[in-house]
Amino acid sequence: MMANTRGSITDRHAMYKEMQRAIPGLDAMYRLVHALIASHSNEAPHVLVVGAGGGREIEEFRNSNAIGGITAIDRSARNLETARAAVGVSAASQDVSFIVGTVDDLPDGETFDIVTSLLVMHHLPDDGAKLTYLRGLRNRLAYGGRLIHADVCFDENEDLDELTPAFRAHADIFGVSADAVRLELDAIPNLPVVCGERTRVLFSEVGLTDPQEVFRTLWYRCWISTGGQT
Ligand SMILES: C[S@@+](CC[C@H](N)C(=O)[O-])C[C@H]1O[C@@H](n2cnc3c(N)ncnc32)[C@H](O)[C@@H]1O
Repeated sequence: MMANTRGSITDRHAMYKEMQRAIPGLDAMYRLVHALIASHSNEAPHVLVVGAGGGREIEEFRNSNAIGGITAIDRSARNLETARAAVGVSAASQDVSFIVGTVDDLPDGETFDIVTSLLVMHHLPDDGAKLTYLRGLRNRLAYGGRLIHADVCFDENEDLDELTPAFRAHADIFGVSADAVRLELDAIPNLPVVCGERTRVLFSEVGLTDPQEVFRTLWYRCWISTGGQT
């Protein structure tokens, strides 16, 4: 484990970026999320970034004129500090509130036009924890609000084995570091990933609309949904 020093935060941020580069096109997902926020009917939407650790979303949104305010929340103080440092390094022009915790730590009744949950739920077991997590997100959506949700997702057990050669070839062609390749391939098989159909069932069970897939690369997918109101 890295010590909590300024240097180690920089190293962690660099590794987040390298792991993003390891997945072909994943940077475009963050740009698409930015565009999805900018296209919200509210001209200056308030955005809740759940699992903001590492700072990829905050870095993408930091100079956006399309956002009325950002609340960034993560249960890991260390990961959130990495995000804060990323914004600081980049001279943020956005006002970002950083909160260590989960959505349960937000003030009662506080809701947002947009809630993002990028690459968070796939860390939670499907023993009720995913459902509780999704219900928490749904309860933070304002009337007419939009959830933008991304996860690692496999429909078939063989998917990872079938896609790994392309992942490795991409890394070779574009000079992705061996550490990032190893970290990704060690982590993915150990995540409590669910299939697309199970994701739809979980959304339905908490009263979210059927998720619409808006992005996919290798084992990464992104969907949009609403709380059911129009
Ligand atoms: C793989 S990182 C993704 C970070 C960022 N969203 C991105 O796309 O790069 C997942 C983050 O979610 C955080 N996390 C996991 N469960 C959470 C929860 N219930 N509430 C808030 N943060 C959570 C972890 O601490 C971690 O920083």
